[in-house]
Amino acid sequence: MCGIIGIASNRPVSTNIINSLKKLEYRGYDSAGIATITDGYINEKKCSGRVDELQKILLKTPSNGNIGIGHVRWATHGIPSIVNAHPHSSDAVSVVHNGIIENSDEIKKNLETKNFKFKSQTDTEVITLLITEALNDSKPLEAVFKTLKKLKGSFALGIIFKNYENIIIGARRGSPLAVGYSNDENFLGSDSYALKSMTNKISYLDDGELCVLTKDNVEFFNQNKKKINKKIHLVSEDLNTSEKGNFKNFMSKEISEQPITAKKCVSEYVDKIKKDINIYNFPIKPSEINKIVLIGCGTAYHSCLVAKYWFEEITSIEAEIDVASEFRYRNLKLNEKNLYVFLSQSGETADTSAALDICKKNKVKTCAIVNVVESTIARNADWVLPIHAGPEIGVASTKAFLGQLIVLFILCLKLSFMRKDINKEFYNSKIDDLTKLPDEINKCLKSETNIQLMAKEFLDANGSMFLGRGFSYPIALEGALKLKELSYLHAEGYPAGEMKHGPLALIEDGLPVVVIAPKDKYFEKTLSNMQEVIARGGKIFFFTDNKKKSISENIRFGLRVPFLDNLFSPILLTVPLQLLAYHVALLKNCDIDKPRNLAKSVTVE
Ligand code: AGP
Repeated sequence: MCGIIGIASNRPVSTNIINSLKKLEYRGYDSAGIATITDGYINEKKCSGRVDELQKILLKTPSNGNIGIGHVRWATHGIPSIVNAHPHSSDAVSVVHNGIIENSDEIKKNLETKNFKFKSQTDTEVITLLITEALNDSKPLEAVFKTLKKLKGSFALGIIFKNYENIIIGARRGSPLAVGYSNDENFLGSDSYALKSMTNKISYLDDGELCVLTKDNVEFFNQNKKKINKKIHLVSEDLNTSEKGNFKNFMSKEISEQPITAKKCVSEYVDKIKKDINIYNFPIKPSEINKIVLIGCGTAYHSCLVAKYWFEEITSIEAEIDVASEFRYRNLKLNEKNLYVFLSQSGETADTSAALDICKKNKVKTCAIVNVVESTIARNADWVLPIHAGPEIGVASTKAFLGQLIVLFILCLKLSFMRKDINKEFYNSKIDDLTKLPDEINKCLKSETNIQLMAKEFLDANGSMFLGRGFSYPIALEGALKLKELSYLHAEGYPAGEMKHGPLALIEDGLPVVVIAPKDKYFEKTLSNMQEVIARGGKIFFFTDNKKKSISENIRFGLRVPFLDNLFSPILLTVPLQLLAYHVALLKNCDIDKPRNLAKSVTVE
């Protein structure tokens, strides 16, 4: 959620901290701040709002100093404001924090009895004051260890010290933290994305670990204060996908990249010549898998839901789905014959990661389908299937969702074939379809002009509905989620067959209702549900792959995507729904890449 950067160097660091914070802004943009050690003092500058504001402050009053920390905040405790922005500093120490300190009220009361004064409403300030107190009789490393012992909750921390002006300490429990290396500089970052412009050599802290950075050295410690070595990963720079180029925003770029995402993803897994899928090393023998349990949050959860329909359609394996925030607290009967599959673009979502940890503790087999292969979820799972979508910067997930769907389909197809649920002919024909998918996705992008016209119709609406059945039900949920998160227009996704059981009461004259009805076994049923909506005044936006000419004269706007196979309709119909949400948000002048109240990487529960 929030973003951390720290730099220890032999030259002034504030410009590079600001540049890195701009890269991290996709993680949090309620407020921003920086602290450097300048002439033996902690020099703290903060603003509410965007990093640009902070940059303006620094242009007027530059911050010198060869060591510093910076932060972009996504508010958890205390409103977004200058006083609640990080860093939180005392006379002795300055701290940036991602995560939530669950026992902060208790600690605060205790510190107040010792006359410590609090300036902010944040949970973070207790960390600053605990370290300040501990520094009375301890050196920095020991002071931090003492403090961490008192904290409950999750954190990634970056800490600098007035009297020890050459070190940054970083610590991790629950929230990701990375260290980057260069010749005469070392870096701390909440993810490798912000560090990539400065270095391609990166180590990842695990939970309970701590690091001490100087400009020419990095030391790591485990929670027992024992020095440890960490692996250095060489990460690729991926510059093309990290910049928005001529696009208005990252989201439009990421939507338009989807044919390439699909091509990359398919070519990573599919051998066109041998007509086979290159997935090996299943953690459970395919023929012995009892059940697939798919777990994720938000859009990733919707990809689980699509996959459930696929598994039920073409395999003999039972498929179950769960929202990670529910899964992690239920009294589950985990089974060693089940494969638990975790879906996450970022690989850092707190709930998904905690759900995975529960599976690990219970020694059941886990698979991670992620975009970020260096992420916590990827590192903790028994088995990883990357989606190869490249960095996704827009908060709204588009190309990563598509990538998740493709990998899930490929996994499903492979398992189905290995278990002899489908024959070679069917297997081959779906492999052929997979190779055609990028071109078909490209054709879907051509619907943009039509979608722009549709988008205008949503401007005066008070709400909207998205309906679908079968494979189109999860896509209705996803279409509605995209519209609400980007345009702030209420949107309800529903299985079309459920309308009579309550939601039909919402239909009134002119309410935009998006009906997703591909040419499948549900087509006629969905049409009947649509007629019930029309009869009550709903304004229909009809999305299909059915070539049938006259479907209903009461359809206000219609859009056809190419037909590849029923199984692929959720992938192809997703594209115009993304474009619809995008164009409604654009017309409403919303901040498309950074919708209000949301963050790209949800590292708190
Ligand atoms: C997608 O548009 C959302 N912003 C959100 O639902 C997201 O998919 C969810 O937070 C899960 O993220 P993850 O894939 O990184 O785990």
